[in-house]
Amino acid sequence: MSPRRFLITGATGGIGRATLQRLLERGDEILAVGRGLEKLDDLAERSERAEAEGYGRLARHRADLMDEGARAQLAQVAAKGSGGLDGVVYIAGRNDRMPFDELDEAHVRGVFELNFFAPLLLVRSLVPYLNEGAVLLFVSSTLASKPVPGSAAYSASKAALESLSRSLAIELGGRKVRALSIAPGLVDTAMLREGRSENDLEFFASLSPLGRIGEPDEIASLIVHALDNAFLTGVTITVDGGSLTGMSR
Ligand SMILES: NC(=O)c1ccc[n+]([C@@H]2O[C@H](COP(=O)([O-])OP(=O)(O)OC[C@H]3O[C@@H](n4cnc5c(N)ncnc54)[C@H](OP(=O)(O)O)[C@@H]3O)[C@@H](O)[C@H]2O)c1
Repeated sequence: MSPRRFLITGATGGIGRATLQRLLERGDEILAVGRGLEKLDDLAERSERAEAEGYGRLARHRADLMDEGARAQLAQVAAKGSGGLDGVVYIAGRNDRMPFDELDEAHVRGVFELNFFAPLLLVRSLVPYLNEGAVLLFVSSTLASKPVPGSAAYSASKAALESLSRSLAIELGGRKVRALSIAPGLVDTAMLREGRSENDLEFFASLSPLGRIGEPDEIASLIVHALDNAFLTGVTITVDGGSLTGMSR
């Protein structure tokens, strides 16, 4: 497959970085978006050194995706690149847990801004620059279909994101553009560990029939497969170590 050009948000996080690494290793060209771009210094250096050996080209763009102006600026940068876009991989997300009786409007709007409105509006502004055969991939969560206490805003925002990906598959299929979601279960990243003890992590591991939580690269490998499989669209693919199927003890 010849190198393709992808915009990746959440590239500085656990799942995003693992995805970025896989795509760069096979020579794709990436526009990586995040706030803490210094977390990608090593990959940027490697990209500069190794382009001649077929390693991909990495461009980094700092953007707070909660900010409308920053999103507009990002869309301009993405549109400028030569040859259009072969895909948008929206991995950025926030999951601030809050019991339902403490939920306030600002919290719900904040979660929806990053997890739903930002991908919708960003993709809408990029549609004119999508190449034939491009793919729009959104990282959702198993919590979209199986909420837990405290996840009301997050679960609803991810369910809306999955629904959006189905609408995009229907509306853009005529242009040979695909759209889909990937719904991971519990994955070992900063998001999962924040505010959690080792005991919590052991409990999470016990929820999977495999007795463990996932590794970021196990999600990244599915993302890359979904970017490549030209017959895959309009679906949400779960990758959760069997947790949705049921508890093993
Ligand atoms: N880990 C899990 O168990 C799990 C399970 C299911 C689904 N997910 C989903 O997987 C995706 C990736 O999460 P992760 O587990 O890899 O967590 P992570 O390591 O905490 O990464 C979160 C990413 O989101 C970006 N982000 C957060 N707020 C942002 C903002 N305002 N503007 C721009 N970027 C922002 C962060 O970038 P900066 O910090 O650089 O801004 C970072 O790259 C999320 O959508 C999450 O909901 C995770």
